[in-house]
Amino acid sequence: MWNYSETVMEHFRNPRNVGKIENPDGAGTVGSLACGDALTLMFKLDADKRIAEVKFQTFGCASAIASSSALTEMVLGKTIEEAERVTNKDIATFLGGLPDQKMHCSVMGREALEAAIHNYRTGETIFKNLEDHIVCTCFGVSENEIRRVVTENSLSTVDEVTNFCKAGGGCGMCRDDIQKIIDTLRSAQPAQPPAAAPKPQKKMSNLQKMKLIEEVVDREIRPQLKKDGGDIELLDIVGDRVTIAFRGMCAGCHSAAFTRQDFIEAKLREFVDPLIVVVEEGD
Ligand code: FES
Repeated sequence: MWNYSETVMEHFRNPRNVGKIENPDGAGTVGSLACGDALTLMFKLDADKRIAEVKFQTFGCASAIASSSALTEMVLGKTIEEAERVTNKDIATFLGGLPDQKMHCSVMGREALEAAIHNYRTGETIFKNLEDHIVCTCFGVSENEIRRVVTENSLSTVDEVTNFCKAGGGCGMCRDDIQKIIDTLRSAQPAQPPAAAPKPQKKMSNLQKMKLIEEVVDREIRPQLKKDGGDIELLDIVGDRVTIAFRGMCAGCHSAAFTRQDFIEAKLREFVDPLIVVVEEGD
Protein backbone atom coordinates (compact mmCIF):
# COMPACT_ATOMS: atom_id res chain seq x y z
CA MET A 1 0.00 0.00 0.00
CA TRP A 2 1.42 3.38 -1.03
CA ASN A 3 1.75 6.05 1.58
CA TYR A 4 -0.48 8.70 -0.02
CA SER A 5 -1.25 12.08 1.51
CA GLU A 6 -4.81 12.87 2.56
CA THR A 7 -5.09 15.27 -0.37
CA VAL A 8 -4.11 12.53 -2.84
CA MET A 9 -6.71 10.18 -1.37
CA GLU A 10 -9.37 12.89 -1.37
CA HIS A 11 -8.77 13.70 -5.07
CA PHE A 12 -8.67 9.98 -5.88
CA ARG A 13 -12.02 9.35 -4.17
CA ASN A 14 -13.66 12.55 -5.46
CA PRO A 15 -11.85 13.45 -8.67
CA ARG A 16 -12.79 16.85 -10.06
CA ASN A 17 -13.52 17.60 -13.70
CA VAL A 18 -13.72 14.04 -15.01
CA GLY A 19 -15.19 13.62 -18.49
CA LYS A 20 -15.13 15.06 -21.97
CA ILE A 21 -15.81 18.49 -23.50
CA GLU A 22 -17.67 18.78 -26.79
CA ASN A 23 -15.54 20.75 -29.27
CA PRO A 24 -12.68 21.61 -26.90
CA ASP A 25 -10.25 24.40 -27.82
CA GLY A 26 -7.33 22.12 -26.98
CA ALA A 27 -6.97 18.39 -26.24
CA GLY A 28 -3.95 16.18 -25.64
CA THR A 29 -3.28 12.56 -24.78
CA VAL A 30 -0.12 11.11 -23.25
CA GLY A 31 0.96 7.69 -22.05
CA SER A 32 -0.43 4.42 -23.33
CA LEU A 33 -2.45 1.61 -21.88
CA ALA A 34 0.48 -0.70 -22.67
CA CYS A 35 2.57 1.28 -20.16
CA GLY A 36 -0.15 1.18 -17.54
CA ASP A 37 -1.16 4.87 -17.57
CA ALA A 38 -2.87 7.08 -20.12
CA LEU A 39 -4.30 10.55 -19.73
CA THR A 40 -6.42 12.71 -22.01
CA LEU A 41 -6.88 16.34 -21.02
CA MET A 42 -9.03 18.94 -22.79
CA PHE A 43 -10.01 22.54 -22.15
CA LYS A 44 -12.22 25.32 -23.38
CA LEU A 45 -11.41 29.03 -23.12
CA ASP A 46 -13.77 31.89 -22.32
CA ALA A 47 -13.97 35.24 -24.08
CA ASP A 48 -10.99 36.51 -22.03
CA LYS A 49 -8.90 33.52 -23.18
CA ARG A 50 -8.91 31.99 -19.74
CA ILE A 51 -9.51 28.28 -19.14
CA ALA A 52 -13.22 28.19 -18.38
CA GLU A 53 -13.65 24.43 -18.49
CA VAL A 54 -11.16 21.60 -18.24
CA LYS A 55 -11.81 17.85 -18.15
CA PHE A 56 -9.74 14.71 -18.06
CA GLN A 57 -10.05 10.99 -18.58
CA THR A 58 -7.36 8.72 -17.23
CA PHE A 59 -6.57 5.06 -16.89
CA GLY A 60 -4.20 4.63 -14.02
CA CYS A 61 -3.58 4.33 -10.34
CA ALA A 62 -4.76 6.54 -7.47
CA SER A 63 -1.90 9.00 -7.94
CA ALA A 64 -2.56 9.31 -11.71
CA ILE A 65 -6.20 10.14 -11.01
CA ALA A 66 -5.31 12.53 -8.17
CA SER A 67 -2.59 14.26 -10.24
CA SER A 68 -5.00 14.78 -13.14
CA SER A 69 -7.74 16.05 -10.84
CA ALA A 70 -5.34 18.43 -9.07
CA LEU A 71 -4.01 19.74 -12.36
CA THR A 72 -7.49 20.61 -13.60
CA GLU A 73 -8.17 22.59 -10.42
CA MET A 74 -4.82 24.36 -10.70
CA VAL A 75 -5.31 25.57 -14.28
CA LEU A 76 -8.99 26.52 -14.10
CA GLY A 77 -9.33 30.28 -14.59
CA LYS A 78 -5.73 30.67 -15.81
CA THR A 79 -4.58 31.97 -19.18
CA ILE A 80 -2.69 29.55 -21.43
CA GLU A 81 0.57 31.30 -20.58
CA GLU A 82 -0.11 30.98 -16.85
CA ALA A 83 -1.21 27.34 -17.19
CA GLU A 84 1.90 26.29 -19.05
CA ARG A 85 4.04 27.50 -16.18
CA VAL A 86 2.57 24.74 -13.95
CA THR A 87 5.29 22.12 -13.42
CA ASN A 88 5.08 18.55 -12.24
CA LYS A 89 6.61 19.77 -8.98
CA ASP A 90 3.68 22.18 -8.53
CA ILE A 91 1.22 19.30 -8.99
CA ALA A 92 3.05 17.14 -6.44
CA THR A 93 3.22 20.05 -3.98
CA PHE A 94 -0.51 20.77 -4.40
CA LEU A 95 -1.16 17.13 -3.50
CA GLY A 96 0.98 17.28 -0.37
CA GLY A 97 3.68 15.16 -2.06
CA LEU A 98 3.71 11.87 -3.97
CA PRO A 99 5.72 8.71 -3.27
CA ASP A 100 8.99 8.78 -5.29
CA GLN A 101 7.86 5.86 -7.43
CA LYS A 102 4.70 7.76 -8.37
CA MET A 103 6.23 11.07 -9.44
CA HIS A 104 5.78 10.03 -13.07
CA CYS A 105 2.03 10.59 -12.57
CA SER A 106 2.64 14.30 -12.00
CA VAL A 107 4.93 14.39 -15.06
CA MET A 108 2.21 12.74 -17.15
CA GLY A 109 -0.26 15.45 -16.07
CA ARG A 110 2.11 18.23 -17.07
CA GLU A 111 2.81 16.53 -20.43
CA ALA A 112 -0.92 16.11 -21.16
CA LEU A 113 -1.42 19.81 -20.52
CA GLU A 114 1.48 20.64 -22.85
CA ALA A 115 0.01 18.40 -25.54
CA ALA A 116 -3.40 20.08 -25.17
CA ILE A 117 -1.85 23.56 -25.40
CA HIS A 118 0.17 22.48 -28.44
CA ASN A 119 -3.07 21.22 -30.01
CA TYR A 120 -4.76 24.57 -29.27
CA ARG A 121 -1.91 26.55 -30.83
CA THR A 122 -1.19 24.43 -33.89
CA GLY A 123 -4.12 22.09 -34.40
CA GLU A 124 -1.67 19.19 -34.28
CA THR A 125 -2.59 16.23 -32.13
CA ILE A 126 0.88 14.68 -31.92
CA PHE A 127 3.26 16.52 -29.67
CA LYS A 128 6.36 14.32 -29.90
CA ASN A 129 9.22 15.93 -31.74
CA LEU A 130 10.17 13.39 -34.39
CA GLU A 131 13.77 14.64 -34.35
CA ASP A 132 13.92 13.77 -30.68
CA HIS A 133 16.04 10.71 -30.01
CA ILE A 134 14.20 7.94 -28.12
CA VAL A 135 16.45 6.70 -25.33
CA CYS A 136 14.09 4.23 -23.64
CA THR A 137 12.26 2.20 -26.25
CA CYS A 138 10.35 0.20 -23.62
CA PHE A 139 8.42 3.34 -22.61
CA GLY A 140 9.07 5.61 -25.61
CA VAL A 141 10.89 8.23 -23.55
CA SER A 142 13.06 10.68 -25.47
CA GLU A 143 16.36 12.28 -24.58
CA ASN A 144 14.71 15.70 -24.24
CA GLU A 145 12.11 14.35 -21.82
CA ILE A 146 14.85 12.80 -19.68
CA ARG A 147 16.89 15.99 -19.76
CA ARG A 148 13.85 17.95 -18.68
CA VAL A 149 12.89 15.81 -15.67
CA VAL A 150 16.53 15.68 -14.56
CA THR A 151 16.91 19.45 -14.76
CA GLU A 152 13.53 20.50 -13.37
CA ASN A 153 13.66 18.10 -10.44
CA SER A 154 17.44 18.07 -9.76
CA LEU A 155 17.65 14.29 -10.24
CA SER A 156 20.98 12.54 -9.84
CA THR A 157 20.37 8.80 -10.27
CA VAL A 158 18.87 6.51 -12.91
CA ASP A 159 16.36 5.16 -10.38
CA GLU A 160 15.08 8.68 -9.77
CA VAL A 161 14.66 9.18 -13.52
CA THR A 162 12.66 5.93 -13.64
CA ASN A 163 10.38 7.23 -10.89
CA PHE A 164 9.71 10.45 -12.78
CA CYS A 165 9.22 9.23 -16.36
CA LYS A 166 9.51 5.41 -16.27
CA ALA A 167 12.60 5.41 -18.53
CA GLY A 168 14.88 2.58 -17.46
CA GLY A 169 12.14 0.68 -15.65
CA GLY A 170 11.68 -2.07 -18.27
CA CYS A 171 14.43 -4.19 -19.81
CA GLY A 172 17.12 -1.89 -18.41
CA MET A 173 19.02 -1.64 -21.71
CA CYS A 174 18.85 2.16 -21.64
CA ARG A 175 20.13 2.68 -18.10
CA ASP A 176 23.74 3.40 -19.18
CA ASP A 177 22.49 6.00 -21.65
CA ILE A 178 20.35 7.64 -18.96
CA GLN A 179 23.36 7.76 -16.65
CA LYS A 180 25.38 9.47 -19.41
CA ILE A 181 22.66 12.12 -19.80
CA ILE A 182 22.68 12.73 -16.05
CA ASP A 183 26.50 12.95 -16.00
CA THR A 184 26.54 15.37 -18.93
CA LEU A 185 23.94 17.65 -17.35
CA ARG A 186 25.66 17.62 -13.98
CA SER A 187 29.10 18.34 -15.43
CA ALA A 188 27.60 21.24 -17.42
CA GLN A 189 26.20 22.86 -14.32
CA PRO A 190 28.25 25.87 -13.20
CA ALA A 191 29.95 25.46 -9.85
CA GLN A 192 27.55 26.63 -7.20
CA PRO A 193 28.72 29.59 -5.16
CA PRO A 194 28.80 28.89 -1.45
CA ALA A 195 25.29 29.16 -0.11
CA ALA A 196 24.53 32.47 1.47
CA ALA A 197 23.46 32.34 5.06
CA PRO A 198 19.67 32.08 5.05
CA LYS A 199 17.96 35.35 5.69
CA PRO A 200 15.89 35.20 8.83
CA GLN A 201 12.23 34.89 7.77
CA LYS A 202 10.30 38.01 8.58
CA LYS A 203 7.32 36.92 10.59
CA MET A 204 4.04 38.44 9.49
CA SER A 205 2.06 40.34 12.05
CA ASN A 206 -1.52 39.15 12.62
CA LEU A 207 -2.82 42.16 10.75
CA GLN A 208 -0.56 41.49 7.75
CA LYS A 209 -1.62 37.86 7.72
CA MET A 210 -5.32 38.73 7.84
CA LYS A 211 -4.90 41.21 4.98
CA LEU A 212 -3.03 38.66 2.88
CA ILE A 213 -5.68 36.00 3.51
CA GLU A 214 -8.40 38.43 2.43
CA GLU A 215 -6.43 39.30 -0.70
CA VAL A 216 -5.94 35.64 -1.63
CA VAL A 217 -9.61 34.89 -1.03
CA ASP A 218 -10.62 37.78 -3.32
CA ARG A 219 -8.08 37.00 -6.02
CA GLU A 220 -7.77 33.19 -6.09
CA ILE A 221 -10.78 31.67 -4.36
CA ARG A 222 -13.94 33.77 -4.62
CA PRO A 223 -13.91 33.95 -8.47
CA GLN A 224 -13.81 30.13 -8.65
CA LEU A 225 -16.74 29.72 -6.24
CA LYS A 226 -18.76 32.39 -8.04
CA LYS A 227 -18.53 30.43 -11.26
CA ASP A 228 -20.72 27.81 -9.54
CA GLY A 229 -23.06 30.43 -8.05
CA GLY A 230 -21.43 30.27 -4.63
CA ASP A 231 -19.41 32.52 -2.38
CA ILE A 232 -17.31 32.44 0.77
CA GLU A 233 -17.28 34.50 3.94
CA LEU A 234 -14.26 34.77 6.20
CA LEU A 235 -15.55 34.52 9.77
CA ASP A 236 -12.49 34.32 11.95
CA ILE A 237 -8.71 33.98 11.83
CA VAL A 238 -6.98 32.76 14.97
CA GLY A 239 -3.31 31.94 14.50
CA ASP A 240 -3.19 29.43 11.64
CA ARG A 241 -6.87 28.47 11.93
CA VAL A 242 -9.17 30.14 9.40
CA THR A 243 -12.92 29.76 9.89
CA ILE A 244 -15.09 30.19 6.82
CA ALA A 245 -18.73 29.87 5.78
CA PHE A 246 -19.99 29.00 2.33
CA ARG A 247 -22.71 31.17 0.85
CA GLY A 248 -25.01 30.89 -2.16
CA MET A 249 -25.08 27.56 -4.03
CA CYS A 250 -22.07 26.29 -2.03
CA ALA A 251 -23.93 26.55 1.25
CA GLY A 252 -26.36 23.69 0.65
CA CYS A 253 -23.98 21.19 -0.89
CA HIS A 254 -22.14 19.32 1.84
CA SER A 255 -20.03 16.97 -0.26
CA ALA A 256 -18.95 19.79 -2.56
CA ALA A 257 -18.23 21.95 0.47
CA PHE A 258 -15.83 19.28 1.63
CA THR A 259 -13.81 19.45 -1.58
CA ARG A 260 -14.00 23.24 -1.76
CA GLN A 261 -12.65 23.47 1.79
CA ASP A 262 -9.70 21.42 0.57
CA PHE A 263 -9.19 23.74 -2.39
CA ILE A 264 -9.34 26.84 -0.16
CA GLU A 265 -6.85 25.37 2.28
CA ALA A 266 -4.45 24.53 -0.57
CA LYS A 267 -4.65 28.07 -1.94
CA LEU A 268 -4.09 29.70 1.45
CA ARG A 269 -1.18 27.38 2.16
CA GLU A 270 0.32 28.18 -1.23
CA PHE A 271 0.02 31.96 -0.98
CA VAL A 272 -0.02 32.74 2.74
CA ASP A 273 1.33 30.11 5.11
CA PRO A 274 1.88 26.32 4.72
CA LEU A 275 0.54 25.75 8.24
CA ILE A 276 -2.93 27.19 7.64
CA VAL A 277 -5.89 24.98 8.53
CA VAL A 278 -9.31 25.85 7.12
CA VAL A 279 -12.44 24.86 9.03
CA GLU A 280 -16.05 25.49 8.19
CA GLU A 281 -18.34 27.32 10.57
CA GLY A 282 -19.60 24.89 13.21
CA ASP A 283 -16.70 22.37 12.79
S1 FES B 1 14.83 0.49 -23.16
FE1 FES B 1 14.54 1.55 -21.32
S2 FES B 1 13.90 0.06 -19.94
FE2 FES B 1 14.00 -0.99 -21.83
